Amino acid sequence: MGPDYKMQSVAPFSPAIIKARAPEGVVDALNEKIDALLMEERERQTRDWSEFLAGNLKTEMRITDIIRSTPALTDLLFDVARTYTYKCHNALLHYGNYEEATELKDKKIEIRISEGWINDMIAGDFNPVHFHQGSTYSCVLFLRNPEGYEQEFQADKARQHSVGCLQFIDSRTAIGVQNLFTVKPVVGDFYLWPSWMLHTVYPFRGEGIRRSMSANLSLV
Ligand SMILES: [Fe+2]
Repeated sequence: MGPDYKMQSVAPFSPAIIKARAPEGVVDALNEKIDALLMEERERQTRDWSEFLAGNLKTEMRITDIIRSTPALTDLLFDVARTYTYKCHNALLHYGNYEEATELKDKKIEIRISEGWINDMIAGDFNPVHFHQGSTYSCVLFLRNPEGYEQEFQADKARQHSVGCLQFIDSRTAIGVQNLFTVKPVVGDFYLWPSWMLHTVYPFRGEGIRRSMSANLSLV
């Protein structure tokens, strides 16, 4: 065995993204609530949030109140955001504490849900490249995919699997670093990222609804 160089991977300039899974039952319960709301014309009108969002898509409906009153959802959002914050504070601000940053120990970090909304996309809808202003973190929970999405996704191989995908964009380059990070929507998957990070959602062609929940979170 060679000498112990005491190597540490230090990546203070690379923005991180956290991936997680929503607990069992969260997706079904939320879909049920949203489906019921969409049946109500008045709810659809009063909750319409499309004026404030970048998306070119069928329905953007504000559901901040529903997220805030669903403990399983707020726990997921807060726990992931606190973990992100804790890791960054230890790994980036207090360089040398990398080993300490592997699990959340500080439960005092307070996170606020600024706003949350639903994105329902139909064939041809898309979300142009954008970022979210005025918050610390943004996140997405995938709730529903169009029928036949998997076949469409697989057939898209020649075009590097972009159909219906969320894609993050970072213009900096470094060895081993990609400029694009593409995420396939898988029901129940959850992602959290710094709000300034550019991202886009590509269209699909199949029948049905692609649904996700988005939220902006701030450190209190
Ligand atoms: Fe977005």
